[in-house]
Parts: sequence; structure tokens; C-alpha cells
Amino acid sequence: MPDPVLELRGVIKEFGDAVVTRVLHGIDLRVMPGEFAALIGPSGSGKSTLLNLVGLLDRPTSGEVRVQGERTDALADDERTALRARCLGFVFQFTT
Ligand SMILES: Nc1ncnc2c1ncn2[C@@H]1O[C@H](COP(=O)(O)OP(=O)(O)OP(=O)(O)O)[C@@H](O)[C@H]1O
Ligand SMILES: [Mg+2]
Repeated sequence: MPDPVLELRGVIKEFGDAVVTRVLHGIDLRVMPGEFAALIGPSGSGKSTLLNLVGLLDRPTSGEVRVQGERTDALADDERTALRARCLGFVFQFTT
């Protein structure tokens, strides 16, 4: 079986220091080659937060993000940039 193109394991994301807001509460997700996935949910549910992690634009508070089988948490910023350039594409919500 091929590696998932994208895999999340137990991803938690929190914002804030004095007041901590937990936005993602342990996300497990696997997307296989050729699979089409859509992320839906109400405003404020954490879609952009999740996509920022998947796109290697932000780092999770804990948990793993793997892109084409490669763990990204231990990668330096320049290595994350190279992986992003090689494997990921974006169309942002706001383009102007
Ligand atoms: N940098 C941040 N600092 C603090 N809180 C944040 C930050 N980014 C997002 N949040 C909070 O995380 C929650 C999820 O926001 P997010 O933007 O991921 O939602 P969304 O599902 O993309 O919403 P929309 O459909 O409106 O785009 C919201 O409560 C938001 O206020
Ligand atoms: Mg959003």
C-alpha cells in the first residue's frame, strides 16, 4: 500500500499564552494518492487553522503532520519550505 500523501496523527492546536484556546482537539486524518478530500464546517470551526498546518505554514501544538510519508515536526523552516515547494499548492480564501 502506498504512503498517504497526507497524514495527521493526534494533532492539537492551541492559541494564546495567558488564555489558551484549543482549536483542534486531536485530529487524525489520512488522504491517499488520487483521493479527493473536502474539509467542511461552520465559520470558526478550525478549517483554516488545519489547512495552515497541512500547508506547513504553521506548526501544531502537539501531534504529527506527515507529507508524502515524511514527518514534518522535526524539519527546520528551510526544509519545510522545500517540501512545501515540492509537494503542496494553495488557493487562498482571500486573493486580493
Ligand atoms: N492566530 C490566532 N490566534 C488566536 N485565535 C485564533 C488564531 N487563528 C484562529 N484562531 C481562532 O481559532 C478558531 C478557528 O478559526 P479558523 O480561522 O481556523 O476557522 P475557519 O473554520 O477557517 O473559519 P471561516 O469559515 O470563517 O474561515 C476561531 O475561534 C479563531 O478565532
Ligand atoms: Mg477559514
